[in-house]
Amino acid sequence: MHTVASILALATTASAIQGFNYGSTFTTGAAKQQSDFENEFTTAQNLKGTSGWTSARLYTMVQGGTASDPIAAIPAAIKTKTTLLLGLWASGGDTSFANEILALKAAIEQYGDDFANLVDGISVGSEDLYRNSPMGIAAGSNVGAEPATIARYIKETKDTIAGTGLEGTPVGHVDTWTAWYNGTNQAVIDACDWLGMDAYPYFQDTMPNGISESKSLFQEALGKTQQAGGGKAVWITETGQPVSGKTVGQSVASTDNAETYWKDVVCPLVASGTNLWYYTLQDAAPDTPSPSFGIVGDKLTTTPLFDLSCDDVDTSSSSSSSAGSSSTTKASSATASGSGSSTTETASLGNSGGSPGGVNSAQISSEASATVTPSISTTLSNSAATGTGTGTGSGSGVGSGSGTNGTFTAPPSATSTVPASGATGLQSGAFAAAFAAIMVAIYAF
Ligand SMILES: *[C@@H]1O[C@H](CO)[C@@H](O)[C@H](O)[C@H]1NC(C)=O
Ligand SMILES: *[C@@H]1O[C@H](CO)[C@@H](O)[C@H](O)[C@H]1NC(C)=O
Repeated sequence: MHTVASILALATTASAIQGFNYGSTFTTGAAKQQSDFENEFTTAQNLKGTSGWTSARLYTMVQGGTASDPIAAIPAAIKTKTTLLLGLWASGGDTSFANEILALKAAIEQYGDDFANLVDGISVGSEDLYRNSPMGIAAGSNVGAEPATIARYIKETKDTIAGTGLEGTPVGHVDTWTAWYNGTNQAVIDACDWLGMDAYPYFQDTMPNGISESKSLFQEALGKTQQAGGGKAVWITETGQPVSGKTVGQSVASTDNAETYWKDVVCPLVASGTNLWYYTLQDAAPDTPSPSFGIVGDKLTTTPLFDLSCDDVDTSSSSSSSAGSSSTTKASSATASGSGSSTTETASLGNSGGSPGGVNSAQISSEASATVTPSISTTLSNSAATGTGTGTGSGSGVGSGSGTNGTFTAPPSATSTVPASGATGLQSGAFAAAFAAIMVAIYAF
């Protein structure tokens, strides 16, 4: 028997985009081929309990093992009618980025409108600003990029698609909340048509982060990113809860909790019409990493490890999470307005209240064979007019700290995607291996 909410939810036509993140290589280092992408895309489309998870977010335009050939995910997407959030890897320097642009141009020429009609958007870079920050550098992550560089690459990308079938495609960038909220990165926000946010409450171990807190932690991250974006659309480019792995803070990695996260966070986002690329359908394979975020386990199968249906989920409390200018189609409750208003922490974060200080944990997920050593200790102090926030965090995965004001709520976790250096230096995508390095820092904006 359906509840009222479920009937209304079924009556709702979500107009937003849903999909998963797809790396470009296997954990063996081998590049995925067209048939590999086709298998993944077809699995996503036929996942039991779902419909419409038909977009693929990519990290690079370049096919593994080549200098600048278009990634084989493109013909696979055409064949399976999968839409694409393209990614151009932006932390490899100008020569590397030039190859991303070459691959983009080649894809436009080679596949024409069959390709262009499938493109949801283009992301220039992934967590480059986070990796460029003291946290990222201290955590031993691979290189990132300066905001001016990302802004320049965004312009170059827009120039590249002008006058082609991709003209008008929204171009943005993906980064962590902390990077979006860092005013020094404003040039990137200015250059973007949309902001991509990665968020994982699982890693926020310096505050209560049991699974029951996940929804509020996620919404806080989203609200602050929306605030930083000044009205630009915020797309959720990565989020998820692991099905297995170690407990981080109070967050237990289990299929039960992954299901709870899906019902509490993902279903309301879908209902509110927010563009979302979940992390993830399947972890980099064949060596399953720990923690593992894949909802299908080791083998590609349309039977997920937990129930993905949203039918009986009350999505009425999702209004504050509706992102940016995304259209809102939810109808499950009179109170759901989808106005995209930010959460309540703005006073302390706006530096007007003199209450900085607090603890943030940032997590690194490395790709391919990259490993990161978690042994960080850092102190950042705030230059706010009316208060200074200092604190200490110690590494090895856990940290603690305190600010001058106990009322401050620490910012959400930052996540980083670290590319392994491969033959081409462009091993973007292909998450695998080690989730490592919990980095602790004090954030005081
Ligand atoms: C803020 O962003 C700038 C530019 O990306 C970076 O250099 C700086 O380290 C960032 N600050 C923090 C605290 O992350
Ligand atoms: C801490 O926050 C409270 C409430 O916002 C404020 O009244 C107080 O002045 C703050 N204390 C410090 C040391 O910033």
